Amino acid sequence: MIEAGIIKKNKGSPEEEDAVFEIRYMDEDNLDEMMALQEVIIQNLADKEIFRTHSIDYFKNLFQVEKAAIGAFTEEGLIACSVLKFPEEIEDNFGVDVNLPIDDLSRVVHIAKVAVHPAFRGNSLQRKLQGIHLEVAREMGCYHACCMVSPKNRHSLQNMFSHGFIIKALKLKFGSRLRYILHKNLLRPNMSVPDEIQILSSNIAGQICLLNQGFLGFRLELLRDDFEISYGRVQALRYLPEFQYSNHCMSSGRRSFVTLAAR
Ligand SMILES: CC(C)(COP(=O)(O)OP(=O)(O)OC[C@H]1O[C@@H](n2cnc3c(N)ncnc32)[C@H](O)[C@@H]1OP(=O)(O)O)[C@@H](O)C(=O)NCCC(=O)NCCS
Repeated sequence: MIEAGIIKKNKGSPEEEDAVFEIRYMDEDNLDEMMALQEVIIQNLADKEIFRTHSIDYFKNLFQVEKAAIGAFTEEGLIACSVLKFPEEIEDNFGVDVNLPIDDLSRVVHIAKVAVHPAFRGNSLQRKLQGIHLEVAREMGCYHACCMVSPKNRHSLQNMFSHGFIIKALKLKFGSRLRYILHKNLLRPNMSVPDEIQILSSNIAGQICLLNQGFLGFRLELLRDDFEISYGRVQALRYLPEFQYSNHCMSSGRRSFVTLAAR
C-alpha cells in the first residue's frame, strides 16, 4: 500500500457516506478491474473523443513493468488509475513531438492513462496518483515526462498544469484526435519568464501559431463558457524584453510574471 485515506462519493452528496480508499501498485491480477473501470469511464463521457480506450493486451504489456500502474481502491474495487508507458519505438515517443534531444529519448516516460470513476471525481485523485507516479519515474531514472490531453479536456489539463507540465505542441495524433502534447522536465527546477499571453482553448489555429513561434502553454483560466490558456515564450522574452506580440495568432495579450518549466 502506498497511501490511504477518506474520500467523498458523488461530491459529498448527503445520501452518500465518505469512502475509505487505498492506493496500491497494480499488476496483472488487476487487469479485469482496469478494463471494467475503462468501460465505466467511456460510457459516462459525453464526448468520447477525449478518452482513448485500449485492449487488455495493451494494459497487460504496460503492467509488466514494476510500479507502472497505480490504482486507488475502495470497497467497491478500483476507482482510479494512473498508468505509465516507457516508449520503446522512436515513432511512439512523445519526446520527438516536443523536440527533446535524441540522447534523452530513452529517458522519456509517458503518462499513458489516468482516469477517475465518475462517482469519485473531485477528490484530486488524478493529481495524487500523478504525483506518486512522477516521483516513481524520477527514481527510475527518467528525465522527462510527457502526456497527451485533448484541448476539450479542461479537468485533466488543469491537473497536468498543477504538476508543472507545459504545452509544447498541438497536433493530430492517432489519426484524427487533436491533442496537446505536454512535457515536464523531471530534473530541472522551474524558471521565471516575464510575460504571458492568453488565448481561448477553442482557438486551435491561434494556439498552433503561437507554438510555432516558440510559445509554451502553462496555465488555464476559466471563463463562463470556455477557458483560456496562458502562453509564454522564454527565449524571445529574454532577448527582446520590448517584444510586441504580432497579431498573426490572436488579437490581444496581457502581460504579467509567470513561471515556466525549463526546456
Ligand atoms: C480528468 C479526471 C481524471 C479528473 O478527475 P479528478 O482527479 O477527480 O478531478 P479533480 O479532483 O481535479 O476535480 C476538480 C473539479 O472538477 C470536477 N470534475 C473532474 N472531472 C470532471 C469531469 N470529467 N466532468 C465534470 N466535472 C469534473 C470535479 O467534480 C471537481 O469539482 P468541484 O471542484 O466542484 O468539486 C476525470 O475527469 C476523468 O477520469 N475523466 C475521464 C478520463 C480522462 O479524461 N482522463 C484523462 C485523459 S488525458
